[in-house]
Amino acid sequence: MGTSTEAGSRSGDTAPRAFVVRPAEPKDAASFLEMWRAVIAERTHVRTERAPQSVRFYRRRYFRRSWSDDQASIVAVLGDRVIGHLNVSREDSPVTRHVASIGMAVTSDWRGKGVGSALMSEAIRWCHQFGVEKLALSVYPDNQAALALYRKFGFQEEGRLTGHSKKSIGYRDEIVMGLWLIERPHP
Ligand SMILES: CC(C)(COP(=O)(O)OP(=O)(O)OC[C@H]1O[C@@H](n2cnc3c(N)ncnc32)[C@H](O)[C@@H]1OP(=O)(O)O)[C@@H](O)C(=O)NCCC(=O)NCCS
Repeated sequence: MGTSTEAGSRSGDTAPRAFVVRPAEPKDAASFLEMWRAVIAERTHVRTERAPQSVRFYRRRYFRRSWSDDQASIVAVLGDRVIGHLNVSREDSPVTRHVASIGMAVTSDWRGKGVGSALMSEAIRWCHQFGVEKLALSVYPDNQAALALYRKFGFQEEGRLTGHSKKSIGYRDEIVMGLWLIERPHP
């Protein structure tokens, strides 16, 4: 099972000093969706362009099993407010079950304060617990914050998919990145 991790102490203000990173719970649904829709509305960073699912969907289904051998849905919370989210999911095919893919976002007013790093650390802990050997993701080439975060954790660029996203703002290339959590096999 996942545990709670306290992180992100800040000094010099009267706001709560730390956020907590833990598996998502049904009670997080409304706050998560508010954050996620705001990130989508920025239009540039994530693939998703619409969030048609309801709070009920996240409460009743998506956040019910947030730490299983198939996937983890991890949130960073400040009190009741979801300020960041990461989903890490294993691939379905038997031959790619050793790989899990990541999608993540942090609310705009909390970026650059270690939330993304705390979420990534927890995702890697999930990988070790369930025997995931490799993490994979894709990122837009101009997403400096995301590239910095992924490089910090040791992700390496494995290729570029040209025009792979066709968003309302136009075609976007995607950089494919991978992080081996075991020694990289050399077939
Ligand atoms: C990408 C994202 C998740 C990063 O989360 P974050 O909480 O800002 O990341 P952190 O604060 O943990 O920073 C991680 C590292 O990246 C660096 N970094 C953060 N923002 C940066 C920026 N704008 N430019 C360059 N480096 C940056 C930090 O300095 C830090 O490195 P350090 O610990 O060595 O100082 C967040 O910016 C975000 O949600 N962006 C919008 C959605 C998105 O892009 N999702 C990912 C799609 S692939």
